[in-house]
Amino acid sequence: LSSTLAVDRAWDVDGHGGARTCTPSRLLLGAGPSPVPPRIMQALSQPTLSHFDPAFIEILEDVSARLRATLRTRNDATLALAATGSGGMEAVVGNFVEPGDRVVAAVAGEFGRRLADAAERAGAEVVRVRAAWGRSVPQERLIEAARDGVDAMLCVHGETSTGVRQPLDGLADACRERDGLLIVDCVTSFGGEPLRIDEQGIDVAFSATQKCLNAPPGLSPVTANDRALERLQNRRKARSWYFDMSMLLRYWLGDGNRPYHHTAPSNMLYALREALLLLEEEGLERRWARHARAHEALLAAFEVLGFVRLPREEDALNPVLALRTPDRIVEWRVRARLLERHGIELSGGLGHLNGVLWRIGVMGCGARREVQREVVTAVAAELDRDPSEALEALEAGWAT
Ligand SMILES: Cc1ncc(COP(=O)(O)O)c(C=O)c1O
Repeated sequence: LSSTLAVDRAWDVDGHGGARTCTPSRLLLGAGPSPVPPRIMQALSQPTLSHFDPAFIEILEDVSARLRATLRTRNDATLALAATGSGGMEAVVGNFVEPGDRVVAAVAGEFGRRLADAAERAGAEVVRVRAAWGRSVPQERLIEAARDGVDAMLCVHGETSTGVRQPLDGLADACRERDGLLIVDCVTSFGGEPLRIDEQGIDVAFSATQKCLNAPPGLSPVTANDRALERLQNRRKARSWYFDMSMLLRYWLGDGNRPYHHTAPSNMLYALREALLLLEEEGLERRWARHARAHEALLAAFEVLGFVRLPREEDALNPVLALRTPDRIVEWRVRARLLERHGIELSGGLGHLNGVLWRIGVMGCGARREVQREVVTAVAAELDRDPSEALEALEAGWAT
């Protein structure tokens, strides 16, 4: 109804007849952004509403409730920040880490490195517990590091730069014993890897829309429990005005009175709502299982083509398949041809893994057999290989 009204309005003389600008069509199978399905694109193009429109407030509340359900948390403070994942990181560190805090940070890849760096910029004394890129950080070492005190422990649940899943068992208890907060980057794991915020004792988490949720980049879901919020009350004001959680929550959780903080990116929130709805229709657990199967099936196909998974099996993160490329290929040249000739995007390695690693997204609607057939066929063609054996391995993986 609202779109009909908008089109009928007298002032609405511009912008009919379709967009004049366009972008090429791509199959996004890199480390993110992931493919955005038509349903989400359609949701995105619904009429823009203002941040005070009661119809929009309903959407906001719906997004918050669906985020709670999919993050498996009862935290009232569950919202979607107008920011990418890095903005989520800034917000979380800026609100929950203070100068002089003792912070234990797990660093085994680019995103762990960034999180530790952000805490240091916030004035914390950062104890980095490192592991080789391609491995997870052993929990015992994090627990040991927390013995001398921990105001916050920082972990990346899904390290996108290496395709590694960081186990979190035991970390919440170690933090609670020292009255510290467990803060987790769930940018890549949310929606594709088992994640239960409350059960796992995660105090604060942030994510992003462009990975396993398949919405465009631009929002960062964030959740914080009461322990974390208590800390906000007893501390100085957040360094950042835009990311001040107390002010943001007054708008998100306001009952009747929602003081203006910033203009909500309404269309992005429609996209996120549709993404969460799609996820619910499939079922969270079924979706986790599909990602696991898709990861293993794709691995089997690429092993036939001479690639080797970087992480050990027990460390593998389902949404990102990180593969060492065969010595005989110039990896960036093959990726460039995949983009040029097939419209398929894959990611290379970061840091010292640049030139020797591929990262293939196994995210949401990208974690499907038909999509994987397409990428395996294209890669085989670019490597001058018959794709049959790799495709058989893929099918066998999906059949298990
Ligand atoms: C694990 C992880 N954390 C944080 C980020 C940063 O997110 P963004 O690029 O949306 O700012 C990314 C992006 O790839 C990521 O994979």
